[in-house]
Amino acid sequence: MCAKTIETKDITYKGLLQGNVDWVEDMIKSDPTYFDKLSAGQTPPVLWIGCSDSRVPANQITNTLPGDIFVHRNIANVVVHTDMNMLSVLDYSVNVLKVKHVIVCGHYGCGGVNAALGNKQVGIIDNWLRNIRDVYRMHEREMATIKDPEAKSNRLVELNAIEGAANVINTSIVQNAWANGQELSVHAWVYSLKTGLIKDLKVSSHSVDDVSPVFKVSL
Ligand code: CO
Repeated sequence: MCAKTIETKDITYKGLLQGNVDWVEDMIKSDPTYFDKLSAGQTPPVLWIGCSDSRVPANQITNTLPGDIFVHRNIANVVVHTDMNMLSVLDYSVNVLKVKHVIVCGHYGCGGVNAALGNKQVGIIDNWLRNIRDVYRMHEREMATIKDPEAKSNRLVELNAIEGAANVINTSIVQNAWANGQELSVHAWVYSLKTGLIKDLKVSSHSVDDVSPVFKVSL
């Protein structure tokens, strides 16, 4: 008896378009009004800030569908306050879509985090990964106590998600929403490529009381 396996397909340009046609057929078969309903508008309750890694797609790993999650992804799920792309996504999610949760989700084995741990020059991306080196420096004392390279990488992945979530609540966008009485929580998660499971890092923030005094915005 052999166990069932999932084959990875050879992805071709034409195959993507055919895949789309097949998917539409499947969706209509299960619900003929599916696209009519979806095209009427979106009210996702969640903003996902995750890594661009092809193995960490927000919808599949949370068993959700199109329309459920508003998504922003970049290399190593970095959240920095000078990133107009991220700020625009956050502003739209909070002020227009009125999401109830913002989740910063990192993943163990993240290539971006591993590159930041090394000193090799990679290219233009070094400037982006510098933000992760800042996270390392903030937690240098703890990081120095971890000798095993994999454990070191795993911890930096967690700290990068935690600091990313902290940077989300440091924005005037989130603080103004809280001041206006909007229900909004910000979380840090880590996904395991090895088990497929998500770990909640349990650092959720729900109000302006969770903002460090130095980042509190006068409202
Ligand atoms: Co990654």
